[in-house]
Amino acid sequence: MFVVRQATKSDAEAIYAIETDSFSTPWSLESVIRELEEQNERIYFLVEEDGQAVAYAGAWMVYDEGQITNIAVRPESRREGYGAIVTRKLIKELFNRGMTEIFLEVRISNIAALALYRRLGFTVKGIRKSYYTNPTEDAYIMSLVKEETL
Ligand SMILES: CC(C)(COP(=O)(O)OP(=O)(O)OC[C@H]1O[C@@H](n2cnc3c(N)ncnc32)[C@H](O)[C@@H]1OP(=O)(O)O)[C@@H](O)C(=O)NCCC(=O)NCCS
Repeated sequence: MFVVRQATKSDAEAIYAIETDSFSTPWSLESVIRELEEQNERIYFLVEEDGQAVAYAGAWMVYDEGQITNIAVRPESRREGYGAIVTRKLIKELFNRGMTEIFLEVRISNIAALALYRRLGFTVKGIRKSYYTNPTEDAYIMSLVKEETL
């Protein structure tokens, strides 16, 4: 059984654990805590399966634009639909809160994430050259506008 709920500061360690298992340059625990503290402009969701955190997704809200910061699923729980579930929840909430377009960046080699975002309706808007380090890589800028179907 799983639940999707808004993440709070007390989820920082659980999110940090998924973060370090998922990225070559993960956020520090302090950064995760800061993200979760600023709940006015930021929003994070967590999926728990039988009480254990398996996925999270978050975004910043700037005027009427959402900027997805991170989405990750713990390695043992991938391809079970949690990435799509938590991202859909985040998108829905961002649009409910008045955002009209949602942006994100993704490594151009990240086949899994690209497939997920395309499936949810995001399209490529441009490229940011050498946006990522460790290893250095370009990013696709993708966006989803409110009218497009999920
Ligand atoms: C990207 C990520 C969040 C996907 O999460 P997930 O829970 O495995 O994804 P889901 O099971 O919800 O899959 C949804 C769809 O995404 C696509 N997808 C997911 N993983 C994929 C893979 N390895 N290869 C190809 N397509 C993939 C598929 O279209 C999939 O639908 P399907 O299973 O019906 O074919 C996960 O792989 C992850 O945490 N990666 C490391 C962190 C990361 O790169 N985050 C994104 C940063 S921009």
